Amino acid sequence: PENVGILAMEMIFPSQFVDQTELESFDGASAGKYTVGLGQARMGFCSDVEDINSLCLTVVQRLMERHNIKYTDIGRLEVGTETIIDKSKSVKTVLMQLFEPHGATDIEGIDTTNACYGGTAALFNAISWVESSAWDGRYALVIAADIAVYAEGSARPTGGSGAVAMLVGPNAPLIMDRGLRATYMKHAYDFYKPDLSSEYPTVDGKLSIQCYLSALDNCYQLYCKKAQKLGVKVDLKHFDAIVFHSPFCKLVQKSVGRLALNDFLNEPSNYDNLENFANIKLETSYFDREVEKAFMNESKVIFETKTKPSLLAANQVGNMYTASLYGGLVSLLVSKDIKELANNKVCLFSYGSGLASTMFSITIVKDYSPNSPLHKLVSNLNHIKPMLEQRKCVSPEKFTSMLALREKNGHKAPYEPIGDLANLFPGTYYLTKVDEMHRRFYGRI
Ligand code: ACO
Repeated sequence: PENVGILAMEMIFPSQFVDQTELESFDGASAGKYTVGLGQARMGFCSDVEDINSLCLTVVQRLMERHNIKYTDIGRLEVGTETIIDKSKSVKTVLMQLFEPHGATDIEGIDTTNACYGGTAALFNAISWVESSAWDGRYALVIAADIAVYAEGSARPTGGSGAVAMLVGPNAPLIMDRGLRATYMKHAYDFYKPDLSSEYPTVDGKLSIQCYLSALDNCYQLYCKKAQKLGVKVDLKHFDAIVFHSPFCKLVQKSVGRLALNDFLNEPSNYDNLENFANIKLETSYFDREVEKAFMNESKVIFETKTKPSLLAANQVGNMYTASLYGGLVSLLVSKDIKELANNKVCLFSYGSGLASTMFSITIVKDYSPNSPLHKLVSNLNHIKPMLEQRKCVSPEKFTSMLALREKNGHKAPYEPIGDLANLFPGTYYLTKVDEMHRRFYGRI
């Protein structure tokens, strides 16, 4: 099959958020720390009526309904998540509840986990399946979803929650570039979840930023090298859009600066204003303020035009972990005019702590005419921006008490959630009860 890639996308996020300016003051942080310092405006979060299963049920059903796809037309279903509520049973098997009534049980794929990278691994699996001898002509469906919550303290404002579903198959409007991917994997304890009874990670914030930036440098350098072998010269000019996994928006802005630093070190003679930095080493400059300032300044226009449009969900919802990068892709698609998107080369950087990272690229097809697959994909995302505005703003006090409620009851059985159903978006699945055997039951609004 030719031109394998993404045919359709759907994104969901919680119907409630906490305002980051209000959270700064509630937390006693200095005014501007979360909004200007981290670049975050709003953070979506779930009460105890939603869990990873309900988010995934919602996003799958919405995609199937909106695109009018038959459940029997899916031959592979992959879930990437790091939100674990059962050590053995996958979210994928829970999703089978949607497929079984249609007699659809011949469906490969299972869950994939490594921090925020699981969605990318799931996507690569799906693409590989379509390109393989095992392919039977049906679509693959990839879900990236997480609930990102941190213990009280400096990491808490970098939470978020959401899910993205992607329909994968041939002749796609978003074509996965073949033969050109750069991966960097290493052992690191920057962010991990050793306490199996808690939703909260153990996180070394500074190390996680260093790991993220060094993974970015390594992936970009390798991507450039591999492209060169194929006869393609890659620098930031090569891409029309650059989409990142976004733990918080400021880190992404710094990352664009980092890529500019890589370009400069690769070809210093192309620049006439940065000689002072010619001897800078990538490995020792992660927290060098002078370097950061100079290259953020150098890449300002690139950030504004090629990356900022992809930060809508990251800024408005927060870090959706596995869904963050793909929420970035959705944000790009809803933030730019379809004419400007057509024929674009999009660079994507996926990072999961621990650590696993890949840089890869997507080519958007040229044809954006009214009946084209690209037009269909993009117009079926028209609801995203209005939905972001329809959300309810909840006070930091209420947000904190809801997180405390999740913390207290996360693994309780039997349990009946007490969170409000009235705020949920129509069509949302919610947890009705957990029985004495920890079996979970869901309803739909
Ligand atoms: N006005 C404007 N900016 C401010 C203000 C203010 N009043 N106060 C602080 N700032 C700036 C700081 O200068 C800093 O920006 P800079 O680094 O550009 O100088 C920024 O706000 C954050 O302040 P810090 O003091 O660095 O924040 P802190 O150390 O308390 O926490 C951190 C930040 C480490 C990111 C924390 O939120 C965290 O651990 N998050 C989770 C880990 C994470 O997301 N890691 C990223 C990769 S791994 C992953 O994806 C999960």
